[in-house]
Amino acid sequence: MEIQLWRSILCPYELAVRELVVKFNHIIDECRDNDIYSPIEQVEGRVKSVSSILEKMQRKHIPMEQMEEEIEDIAGVRIICQFEEDIDTVVSLIQKRTDMVVKSEKNYLKHIKQSGYRSYHLIIYYTVDTMQGPKKLQAEIQIRTMAMNFWATIEHSLQYKYKGDMPEHVAERLSKAADAINALDREMSSVRNEIMDAQNSSQMQSNLVKDILLNIENLYKLANKREILKIQDEFLRVFYTKDLKQLERFHRQLDIISEGYRAQAVTHQI
Ligand code: GTP
Ligand code: MG
Repeated sequence: MEIQLWRSILCPYELAVRELVVKFNHIIDECRDNDIYSPIEQVEGRVKSVSSILEKMQRKHIPMEQMEEEIEDIAGVRIICQFEEDIDTVVSLIQKRTDMVVKSEKNYLKHIKQSGYRSYHLIIYYTVDTMQGPKKLQAEIQIRTMAMNFWATIEHSLQYKYKGDMPEHVAERLSKAADAINALDREMSSVRNEIMDAQNSSQMQSNLVKDILLNIENLYKLANKREILKIQDEFLRVFYTKDLKQLERFHRQLDIISEGYRAQAVTHQI
C-alpha cells in the first residue's frame, strides 16, 4: 500500500477522534454549567500509528483488505473518571446516545486481566461525514479511573521496555501495585459523597461569581456609578464571607435590581 493511501484511510478516523473528544468534553461543560457533578474528568483521543497498525496486523494475521473491519481501535478515545462508580454512569450515557452504536463491551473491572489491568472497554460504530459522503467506522472507548490510568500508563511503558518479556519480579511488583490501586479506588469511593459535595460547592460558587460579575457589568450601562460601586463593595464583602448561602442571596437580590433597570430601560425605549 502506498503512503498516500494510508493518509486517506486514516483521515476519517482523525475526524472521528476529534468529534468524539469534543462530544465527551461537552458533557463536562454541560455538567459544569448546570452545577452538576461530571462523571467525566478528562478525555483523550488518538489515531493508531501506522507502525502499531502494521504490528497488530502481523500479530493477528490480518490481511490488508480486512484491516478496517478487524482492527477495532484505529480510532481510540480514553475517558478518565474520578471514581469507579462514574464508569457505569459514562457507559450508560454512551449506550443511550443516538450517534454511537455499541458493538461490544469488555468489562475488565469485573474480570480483571492477569496483568492486573482494569478498565471498561466499548467498541462503537460511529459515522463521520466526509467529502466522499458518510463513513461508518469503529472506535474503541476505554473508560477508567485516574488511579487505573496511572497504573496502566506505567505498565504499558514497562511492557514496551521488555517487549512482552517482562521479568517475573517486575510483573510481581506491578501486580502488587495493581492491588494497591484497587484499594485506593475503593477508599476514594468511600468518601465519594463528601468529595462530590465539596466539588459541587466550589463549582456553584464559581458559576455564581461569573453570573454576578456579568450582571454588574451590564448594570454599568444602566445604573449610576455610585450605586454600582456600592453593589461592587457589597459583592466583595459577601464573597469574602465564603458563605455560599449569602452569595446566593446576593445573586438573587442583584437579579431583582437588574430586572428593575431592564424594565426601566425598556420603558424609556418605548
Ligand atoms: P489488542 O490486540 O491490544 O487490541 O487486545 P484485544 O484485542 O484483546 O483487546 P483488549 O480490549 O484486551 O485491549 C485493548 C487495549 O486495552 C490495548 O490496546 C491497551 O490499550 C489496553 N490494555 C489491554 N490490556 C492491557 C494491559 O494488560 N495493560 C495495559 N497497560 N493496557 C492494556
Ligand atoms: Mg482490541
